[in-house]
Amino acid sequence: MNPTQNEHYPPVVMPSLDQQVVLTGQKALVTGASSGIGKQVAIALGHAGADVVVNYVTDPDKAEEAVQEIQRRCGIRAMAIQADVAKEDEVQAMFRTMIKEFGTLHILVNNAGLQKDAPFEKMTLAQWHRVIEVNLTGQFLCAREAVREFKRRGVVPEISCAAGKIICMSSVHDTIPWAGHVNYAASKGGVMLMMKSIAQEVAPWRIRVNAISPGAIRTPINMAAWGTPEAYGELMKLVPYKRIGEPEDIGRAAVWLASDYSDYINGSCLYVDGGMTLYPGFDTGG
Ligand code: BGC
Repeated sequence: MNPTQNEHYPPVVMPSLDQQVVLTGQKALVTGASSGIGKQVAIALGHAGADVVVNYVTDPDKAEEAVQEIQRRCGIRAMAIQADVAKEDEVQAMFRTMIKEFGTLHILVNNAGLQKDAPFEKMTLAQWHRVIEVNLTGQFLCAREAVREFKRRGVVPEISCAAGKIICMSSVHDTIPWAGHVNYAASKGGVMLMMKSIAQEVAPWRIRVNAISPGAIRTPINMAAWGTPEAYGELMKLVPYKRIGEPEDIGRAAVWLASDYSDYINGSCLYVDGGMTLYPGFDTGG
């Protein structure tokens, strides 16, 4: 059943063009935020004025460092919450803690993800399962809890045009096949259609669901691809813009996608990849 006009569709008040992109008063949860892309996304959301939960699974010290950095640099409230996003009870406990501490949630960045690479014939079922359960099932579990909270609360126009925003961290490998990484590419391809299907279903409640698909970003997950000059040179053959992406590139995109500046964007995927998805092998041939 669709929501009624009055209850869920207050008039949209767009941010004026002289207003900066701000997230003041919003509460954000970033999964896998103790390092890499997640950490920079959490910092960027904090800079824009959101209070931030830094989710982590294994390293409390690194998560606490991220929390301290966010509080010092951004002057907003941040806290770390441990949860393995692949475990339903842990995800639900994390949302309960966040809602108890912060009152509610406006922004979910489904970022936690990992790689367990292997040649296809050597890939174990455990490697397959772990990648799918963190990268895909984890995003499902977190998005479901977020949607429950967004629907419960509805739109608060002073805070945002939308009842809530979900950003799914996908990858260029939701569209570029990736030999030796079959589990990872399958998980990200899954994220893409999961994101669009959730977006279609919950849009009438003014809930926006989008994805960011990063290309090669300088983080620990892919250090082998940029850690030496030789590797970096090889990598640049795949990047028309001829530089590696920085986690800040993703942080800025996430702030914009979470803000009312992008209010009419729903079910979209933003490739932040320096052109990696432009088939660079065709730049002189074909
Ligand atoms: C992977 C990285 C890889 C990049 C571009 C990302 O999704 O996690 O390891 O460098 O895609 O291939």
